[in-house]
Amino acid sequence: MKALLHFIVGFLILSPSLGELCNTEDKKVLLKIKKALHNPYHLVSWDPKTDCCTWYCVHCHDTTHRIDQLNIFSGDINGQIPPEVGDLPFLDYLVFRKLTNLTGTIPPTIAKLKNLVSLTLSWTDLSGPVPGFLSQLKNLDYLDLSFNKLSGTIPSSFSSFPKLRTLHLDRNKLTGSIPESFGSFRGEVPDLFLSHNQLAGKLPVSLGKMQFRTIDLSWNRLQGDASMLFNTQTMVIILSRNSFEFDLSKVKLPRSLVWLDLSHNRIRGSLPAGLARLQLQFLNVSYNFLCGKIPDGEELGRFDSSSYFHNRCLCGAPLQPCKLK
Ligand SMILES: *[C@@H]1O[C@H](CO)[C@@H](O)[C@H](O)[C@H]1NC(C)=O
Ligand SMILES: *[C@@H]1O[C@H](CO)[C@@H](O)[C@H](O)[C@H]1NC(C)=O
Repeated sequence: MKALLHFIVGFLILSPSLGELCNTEDKKVLLKIKKALHNPYHLVSWDPKTDCCTWYCVHCHDTTHRIDQLNIFSGDINGQIPPEVGDLPFLDYLVFRKLTNLTGTIPPTIAKLKNLVSLTLSWTDLSGPVPGFLSQLKNLDYLDLSFNKLSGTIPSSFSSFPKLRTLHLDRNKLTGSIPESFGSFRGEVPDLFLSHNQLAGKLPVSLGKMQFRTIDLSWNRLQGDASMLFNTQTMVIILSRNSFEFDLSKVKLPRSLVWLDLSHNRIRGSLPAGLARLQLQFLNVSYNFLCGKIPDGEELGRFDSSSYFHNRCLCGAPLQPCKLK
């Protein structure tokens, strides 16, 4: 009995890692990441003497205790994304966000993280291309690369994610056109956020085959027809500040539509009567070439003249009464 007690006491004293849940491999990798980021104060809790499952910005899986989340957010971080993040094989959630001094490009090692469900690299100073290798992440449900300085074109392989439901590439410096492949997403049709880039050219006609629910293409240099985006499931369409040119009278507006921003384009025709039957939360068709009477309806009465002004000859409340011919 006494011997056993001695044994236990001895063990407690000699084993600093007693009760440590953290996987030793994961811990080594995290310490390399910390070093590569120049030991920032943000990661001061990443002390090799303590259990890495207790460290700030990380999370261990409840049963395996492998690192499954790394969330580096709003810290004073200078440097590049350490390639070692690819050596945390059980990550399902990875975030580098609001780190204005995070520079460089997106490291290819991220493609090794086959369990990733959610990847956010956003509000940083990251530059270089949107890498096509990210499409190797077959479990991704959420991909957010918004608010960076990424340039080049949208990889056409981005249509091949089997499970992606949200794609944010907005607020970058992307050029080129929207890939033809976006008319044939392999899995889910994701909510698509591509605003505030320099995307140009016409939309692929094939986009009409996809049932987009939310699509934001605003603040680009896109042209031509966009009427194919309206389908029976569409909820949010934001096309403002482009050069889209189509006849709105011919568009069948889906009942599901709650948000419609077409402002600052070259859209012609008149407002479809169906507009008055929708339960819209937001409407802006200003700065186009629309004509004719604004449909009557209680729902539409909630929008003021700024939703309609600067068109060729739209009339009726809340704008000027229509002139009798
Ligand atoms: C970014 O770096 C600059 C210059 O090195 C420094 O002045 C600034 O405080 C840093 N900002 C953040 C959020 O780390
Ligand atoms: C509609 O867009 C125009 C142009 O950007 C803007 O001036 C106006 O305030 C907007 N109105 C509403 C209700 O969003």
